[in-house]
Amino acid sequence: MVELFGFTTEMKDASAAREVVGTPNYPRKAFLKTTFKCLLLLSLLTIPIGFILVPFPSPLSRYQMYKRSADGPAKFQKALPLPRNDPLRLSTQHNMIYPGNYHFILDDTELCRSIHPYLVLIVPVAPGNWKARDAIRRTWGNETHIQGELIQTVFLLGIPNSGNIEVLQRKVRTENRLYHDLIQSDFIDSYHNLTIKTMVIMDWLASRCPMVPYAMKIDSDMFLNVENLVSMLKTPGTPTTIYITGRLKNESPVVREKDSQWYVSEDSYRENEFPTYAVGMGYIFSLDMPRRLVEISKRVTPFYVEDAYIGVCMKTLGIDFTPPPERNHFRLYMFEFNRCQLAKSICAILKTPAQLINYWTSLKGPGPAC
Ligand SMILES: *[C@@H]1O[C@H](CO)[C@@H](O)[C@H](O)[C@H]1NC(C)=O
Ligand SMILES: *[C@@H]1O[C@H](CO)[C@@H](O)[C@H](O)[C@H]1NC(C)=O
Repeated sequence: MVELFGFTTEMKDASAAREVVGTPNYPRKAFLKTTFKCLLLLSLLTIPIGFILVPFPSPLSRYQMYKRSADGPAKFQKALPLPRNDPLRLSTQHNMIYPGNYHFILDDTELCRSIHPYLVLIVPVAPGNWKARDAIRRTWGNETHIQGELIQTVFLLGIPNSGNIEVLQRKVRTENRLYHDLIQSDFIDSYHNLTIKTMVIMDWLASRCPMVPYAMKIDSDMFLNVENLVSMLKTPGTPTTIYITGRLKNESPVVREKDSQWYVSEDSYRENEFPTYAVGMGYIFSLDMPRRLVEISKRVTPFYVEDAYIGVCMKTLGIDFTPPPERNHFRLYMFEFNRCQLAKSICAILKTPAQLINYWTSLKGPGPAC
């Protein structure tokens, strides 16, 4: 609005100037004045128009991301440019992602203080994404007692990186007073800081919940079948230590195109393929793993691709991922409701929080047995 008002004022001035151009007294001066005002007007105009035509790059939705990666590396190279001043790109400082450098500014959940669950579901989510948190609380986040085990869900947030930060922060604190399930650390919450977020999650789990048997890092756009997850964990033979499982990705090529969302420099990671890693949408681990990962991260050069980074940490630790009993338990995405597939899977990527509520309601409602 401010620009608009400035713009109309300028218009009036410019037309007033146009009237004086013809007067004999100071034609040259008036002409220069008009030219100057026109230029000023033009530059004022280009700013708002520029914003409309060239919006700031916004992180791709995960759907686009997986769609692109499913299309093969050749097609997904022109994604986001990386922010030029980003420390992860400029330096190989391990410091950047070492979670000990950040502080929890919101951390009053009873989880692991007075509540000792069997499984912690920890969800990295942007501070402003209350819709996703709301949908999770109404669906799988509310499944707290399964097969005699206690399950608890918490959300991990960084500091908002845009918008009215004070207002957003106040909303976050109000939400937390209601649910006591938000944990907030003081790193800047942005797409390119996901590796920091994951390491902060590992740090929180290692320091707060070392006695819990299992945890899952699960993204906020996921469907989760908690019943099937608990069944898998309780199956005899499932490791109780040195265990990470999920949708495993093997021999994934490292993207070297600087424009790409997945660009990793040779300084950060030299090989042309990543070691096996579990796709970041959701992976499950025994609670001895977070401490190991935080410790080894001091020696593993950071890069943005958080799930591949965990893969490199695991390789450095000399620990293999455990394949899930069935690969189809971890579905990349499911944009059409499929009752039987949901009933048999552990997790799947969805499009929107509304879709999560829809699928959940349909699955819990009456329907054919699968
Ligand atoms: C969670 O489930 C209980 C019943 O099991 C229900 O009373 C409660 O309203 C649910 N909470 C939400 C946020 O949907
Ligand atoms: C990542 O977080 C750090 C610490 O808060 C911050 O200095 C940096 O600017 C953030 N990077 C991006 C791309 O947001």
